[in-house]
Amino acid sequence: MCGIIGFVGREQAAPVLLDGLARMEYRGYDSAGIAVRSEARGLQVRKTKGRLQALSDLVHGGADVEGTLGIGHTRWATHGEPSDVNAHPHVSESGNIALVHNGIIENYLEIKEFLLCHGVTFTSETDSEVVAQLLEFHYNECHNMLEAVGRVLRRIEGSYALGIICSDYPNALIAARKDSPLILGYGEMGNFIASDVTAIIKYTRDVVYMEDREIAVVTAEGVDVFTSDMTPVVKEHHQVDWDVTAAEKGGYPHFMFKEIMEQPEAIRRTISPRIREGRVVLDDVRFTAEDMEKFSRIFIVACGSSYHVGVVSKYNWQRLLRRSVEVELASEFRYSDPLVDEHTLVVVISQSGETLDTMAAMREAKRRGARTLAIVNVVGSSIAREADDVLYTWAGPEIAVATTKAYSTQLILMDLLGLYLADLLGTVEKAEYDSVLTQLQALPDQMQRFLDGFEDVKYFASRYFNHNSVFYIGRNLDYAMGLEGSLKLKEISYIHSEAYASGELKHGTISLIEPGTLVVALGTHEALFDKAMSNVVEVKARGAEVLALTTEPLRERMEKIADATIVVPRTHPILQPSLGVVALQLFAYYVALQRGCDIDKPRNLAKSVTVE
Ligand code: M6R
Repeated sequence: MCGIIGFVGREQAAPVLLDGLARMEYRGYDSAGIAVRSEARGLQVRKTKGRLQALSDLVHGGADVEGTLGIGHTRWATHGEPSDVNAHPHVSESGNIALVHNGIIENYLEIKEFLLCHGVTFTSETDSEVVAQLLEFHYNECHNMLEAVGRVLRRIEGSYALGIICSDYPNALIAARKDSPLILGYGEMGNFIASDVTAIIKYTRDVVYMEDREIAVVTAEGVDVFTSDMTPVVKEHHQVDWDVTAAEKGGYPHFMFKEIMEQPEAIRRTISPRIREGRVVLDDVRFTAEDMEKFSRIFIVACGSSYHVGVVSKYNWQRLLRRSVEVELASEFRYSDPLVDEHTLVVVISQSGETLDTMAAMREAKRRGARTLAIVNVVGSSIAREADDVLYTWAGPEIAVATTKAYSTQLILMDLLGLYLADLLGTVEKAEYDSVLTQLQALPDQMQRFLDGFEDVKYFASRYFNHNSVFYIGRNLDYAMGLEGSLKLKEISYIHSEAYASGELKHGTISLIEPGTLVVALGTHEALFDKAMSNVVEVKARGAEVLALTTEPLRERMEKIADATIVVPRTHPILQPSLGVVALQLFAYYVALQRGCDIDKPRNLAKSVTVE
């Protein structure tokens, strides 16, 4: 995700900013920039798409920009593709104010329209530039920078960590945050702001954590923190006690683990800008209820884990839309002479937006006249550019080869889209719509609670890591979730594993069950729990060791049959796979850890599959 650093002190700022940005490279980014101010040269802004090295080359390691006050940013695109102009810092029209931003401004379009009406010209497509321009607008009204910042913060909605410098306010950095982390660092050579301790740990371990809606004024001499109504706040200082080497993955042992832990925050980002006044609002879907009525066929097309999202969504969309929904592997769809025409909606799902089979399937669908809608994580990727409509998952950069947070955000976005389309068609009862939406908003906290204590999953991984073959069984949404759990296990631990619809076992697979075979029994789908249990009894009868996954209300019944049980929080049935899958990701992770596997870069696999 994006990274922020700011410095004001007694040394040249640019080398410090470049060094701090380099330490946040692990977060992933697609462009970077710095803004430095000096008395003689004013505000100097340099930014570029691509690697940090390109930025460093542009400013000759910092030698080309002069000044002891500055801000820097690594961007991971959310609004507007990766490009030089969309990179931060963003500068106001007069060139007086430069700003870096992490987060998403939810009402940026409305503010942009307001500013356009007042003659403001924009150079980028970003929500962040809107904040810089709005700040200048208010500054021109009140001629007081702090007052202008306060007015902006009262007007913007969404999440932000902001670092601001202004020519008329030459000795200070201004920082503010809401729902996006920002810390203040107190150093010998000067003071800092940063979105991530790693950026400044080389210079100081003395930090203060900003709280939501606080504003900080940082100078070379000190730091003042205020509440939103400018009441001074006395902050507690913390000493960072971990080593710089632990910081490469933000303190986590693996990117996969970090990304698992980031899921509550990632899905919050996916959800919150898209729910307004009790309704799902998808500004980027440009087809109407009439268009939707005309679609006689709906396909969901993807590869790997993205395909597994499609399998879950097929069940959910059929329930919500009362339409037949087909889910296809992109590599099969493209060569299947698919029955697709102008009355077909084809939804493609891809984290990278570059998967060749998915891309080719989408092109084939378009060639046959279908309307295409892409669910993509990487902004400006090929699939995102070519689809008729695109919805971004906003999961942030995913570095581990095994997807976790991208899967979860895709699933959540498909749930939102399902509700949205059902609303257009009028196929969902209000009570059901409201119930899913309410529980969707509660989901990030439920997931966080699960992630706050999963010692049992770790223990079961240590108990079962030696198995050579594992079967995941379940019905309906549990089966769909099992497909992903099984893929996670096989790709990172190299254990052979398969997912089966429980009802299929008797048609062949049950012959593979012998004493000691590990079966992961998924029993979270209440409507079919009894049926699923009878299949668990069948494998138990043949000597299987059963590790079960269920919810609290079903725990007691499950524990009577299973050898071990993992319990996840209960939610609306449509959303239940989003909570269950997190336990399966963790199980795969800890099994792979026990087996000493290269978790982030499993053998033979690539993050983005751009070949057939
Ligand atoms: O970038 P995409 O979502 O299109 O990638 C699709 C698959 O290659 C991907 O999900 C793959 O299966 C992952 N390694 C699963 O963890």
